Amino acid sequence: MNENIANKRMPDNEKLYHIGLCHNDLEGAEIAILPGDPGRVLYLSEMLIASPKKLAVNREYTSYLANIGEKKILIMSTGMGGPSIGIGLEEMAMIGVKKFIRVGTTGTIQEKIQIGDLLVSTGAVRLDGTSIHYAPLEYPAVADLELNVNLTQAAKDLSIPIHYGLTASSDTFYPGQERYDSYSGFVRRHFKDSVEEWRKLNVMNFEMEASTLFTICAVFGLQAACICAVIAKRTKSESVDKSKYDNSMRNIMAIIKRSVENG
Ligand code: URA
Repeated sequence: MNENIANKRMPDNEKLYHIGLCHNDLEGAEIAILPGDPGRVLYLSEMLIASPKKLAVNREYTSYLANIGEKKILIMSTGMGGPSIGIGLEEMAMIGVKKFIRVGTTGTIQEKIQIGDLLVSTGAVRLDGTSIHYAPLEYPAVADLELNVNLTQAAKDLSIPIHYGLTASSDTFYPGQERYDSYSGFVRRHFKDSVEEWRKLNVMNFEMEASTLFTICAVFGLQAACICAVIAKRTKSESVDKSKYDNSMRNIMAIIKRSVENG
């Protein structure tokens, strides 16, 4: 919690407009696992318990309640991009969620990283527009140290290899990630050769939410982490390859489960 700001809490039974949840729905859950895709929420929840409890479906925000041991865990989709995750974070914070772990898919721009590999973000390049509504660009978008230590230790315990390092978060999948296989094929001068520049600057990957997540949570004094599965290897091809996706997601959920048990 950041004691320099107000930290508004909603009445326990008042449902928030976008996420359709109130504090009482959480049954004490303070940790949220956040995929982007609403269609992935049940799939991930069932990796934690056999019969997760469906909470709400509204716009891009689908939510279920599951358990890790005795702890209740919220699994909620955020939709794609900064504006969607930003609204979700505001409302989850107002009903009492304190720890946020994004579970995403991503494209790597590094030769040494392969399809199916897992990437833990230590920080994010703020190519989004939402985070500057919360803090100036000079403000760093960094993951929470405790969550990242727990995730990396859990991965070690389970002998699941991970990479950790910097992520670039873009508001667009196509021009902002310098993709030419779009409707127009047009990429503004501003983004031309940007993938090569970020690659040289040792950025591991592109996705669309981490910088907003890290900035807002740092401002709010809440904890955030991001772990992604690689589904595109941009040094080789622009196509998405989901052949390793199920295995990657099972490993991500095993790491999160272990990190919550350890924590
Ligand atoms: N998600 C992204 O934002 N970019 C990719 O390349 C793959 C997934």
